[in-house]
Amino acid sequence: PGDGIGPEVMDEALLTLETIKMKFDIYYELKTALVGGAAIDQRGKALPDETIEICKWAHCILFGSVGGPKWEHLPPEEQPERGALLPLRKKFGLYANLRPAIIYPPLAAASPLKYEIIKNGVDMIIVRELTSGIYFGQPKGREERNGVTVAFDTLTYSVPEIEKICRIAFETARSRCKKLCSVDKANVLASSVLWREVVNRLWQNEFPDIELQHLYIDNATMQLIRQPYNFDVIVCDNMFGDILSDEAAMITGSIGMLASASLGDNRFGLYEPSGGSAPDIAGKGIANPIAQILSLALMFKYSFNRDDICKCIQNAVKKTLDKGYRTKDIYTEGAILVNTAEMG
Ligand code: IPM
Ligand code: MG
Repeated sequence: PGDGIGPEVMDEALLTLETIKMKFDIYYELKTALVGGAAIDQRGKALPDETIEICKWAHCILFGSVGGPKWEHLPPEEQPERGALLPLRKKFGLYANLRPAIIYPPLAAASPLKYEIIKNGVDMIIVRELTSGIYFGQPKGREERNGVTVAFDTLTYSVPEIEKICRIAFETARSRCKKLCSVDKANVLASSVLWREVVNRLWQNEFPDIELQHLYIDNATMQLIRQPYNFDVIVCDNMFGDILSDEAAMITGSIGMLASASLGDNRFGLYEPSGGSAPDIAGKGIANPIAQILSLALMFKYSFNRDDICKCIQNAVKKTLDKGYRTKDIYTEGAILVNTAEMG
């Protein structure tokens, strides 16, 4: 569950899991592990060994959220994000981050975009490379050069890394509207030139049936706001994906609604809400549990190959919204305001 609103929204996801267990007659074993600030407080580090052991034992990880002002005074590499989330992604080889951004029609008013733009619907999925690029490239650090302090990060991609993530993106596009947009900065970055070459080669050799487009990252951020309905699947590197996925989330108007899946090989995955730990509203019982519940849905789809259960959960969310129930973050006039537990 982690920090902030994590434990509150996780409770609702686990209730959903119990309901699924009865409805579908499934069996599962669940272990809860400390992570993030909660782990720092109780075990002295953000990702304790026992947590790693539990994650190794499991078939997948349902993740809440980590971080908060309480731990911001620590050295960056000990803080919940860099001390737990990034190492978890790396350790378990979770290189493919899938972030769907969907506007549910009853929530259209929550989007900051004009109705004319979003009336066509928004339903895209961002496929972000998650274990390489500038987040992990070496060397990384800080030093004195001729009396001047210099800090540096390295942006590296290898052909196999690009192939792996882009293959997932092409396959995802094939299962949807068969449109893929690859985002890079090939007019400036060497890693992007390679990225583009590899995407084109894959397209020609394995996925000629997919409509492929390349956009530079700066242009992509514009097009995403101008015509979000034109996007189906977007693939990009770690850093661009971080940025674009927040932008896409904002377009939907409701970060409390967005789930994500971080996948490795062999169906191992980590499933977490796209929003953060929201320390400002933690403990008040008003957080929106839907992103966590939809993350559970993605878990059934990707780790357990149960699309039927995934759809069942997604439909339940749609029905609940259709009935007018809203937590505070997605509330608009005339709706029925509910708290975290009531929404669950
Ligand atoms: C995300 C977050 C993380 C990232 C942070 C918390 C390290 O912004 O999952 O998008 O940059 O990957
Ligand atoms: Mg981010």
